[in-house]
Amino acid sequence: MKREKMLVIALPGGASLAAALARSLRCDWSELALHHFPDGETGVRIDVAVKGCCVILAGSLNQPDTKTLPLIYAADAALELGAVQVGLVAPYLAYMRQDKRFHPGEAITSRSYARMLSASLDFLVTVDPHLHRIHTLDEIYSIRTQVVPAAPLIARWLRSHVHSPWLIGPDEESAQWVAEVAGLVGAPWTVLHKTRRGDRDVGVRLASRERWPEHVPVLLDDIISTGETMLAATRLLQKAGLGAPLCVGVHALFDAQAQSRLLEAGVSRVLTCDTVTHASNTIRMAPALARACREISA
Ligand code: R5P
Repeated sequence: MKREKMLVIALPGGASLAAALARSLRCDWSELALHHFPDGETGVRIDVAVKGCCVILAGSLNQPDTKTLPLIYAADAALELGAVQVGLVAPYLAYMRQDKRFHPGEAITSRSYARMLSASLDFLVTVDPHLHRIHTLDEIYSIRTQVVPAAPLIARWLRSHVHSPWLIGPDEESAQWVAEVAGLVGAPWTVLHKTRRGDRDVGVRLASRERWPEHVPVLLDDIISTGETMLAATRLLQKAGLGAPLCVGVHALFDAQAQSRLLEAGVSRVLTCDTVTHASNTIRMAPALARACREISA
């Protein structure tokens, strides 16, 4: 069966991802044209012919509120202009952490956001979404979805750069990533117990008696945002005499001070996957994302 031609369109901030995907997929890419009207509304224009194509909108959804409306307008326009299908490659998928009503009256934004994107797209490809109380994307997204795991690439990096790592997850939720990476590397692993009292107020403690003092501590989490979780874990390890950790994050949401505060606290190196553009990006995800696109669009 003949496949439709692929075409990648970069969402705001997604140009380098779009170019890398297009290179791997051997197809063209183009930027979405945006115009900001004086009244605060946004005009969206697709400057390439999409008729008969499988259109892939590419861009990470960190800082999602300004990116989501252009994404929906672009997806709707591509379909109206004759695209056969429209998918989204968002290496970081937003609004996955508000997966329950933590306080009375709160919106469960994971569900609303999934409903909104599902209404305009045919498929979604992402890297390690924050799945906690929601176990698979299919529980909230009604379109085809594919998750690209970062663990094999992180494990490959650790195998070639760190002798005898000890994988440590800063909270119970991180066990899914930590266990997988540790298994692939053949290293011991532990998760800490975390208490979050506020956006920037986090406490951690060692939940088990297990210690691997001869190993290099490697803190691993899916998201580094304010850096408070990694900071609390770093301080704990240092206080326990377990050495300066390496911090590995999948998604580098990093606020302005997070990386420098981690380095000042004694972290030996901070490294992340390039799902969100940041100076710490070390592990490239585009080739694996392109493979996922080929599979899901077939
Ligand atoms: C928690 O749900 C996530 O896995 C991360 O631990 C969290 O997002 C990190 O946030 P921060 O860097 O602000 O402590």
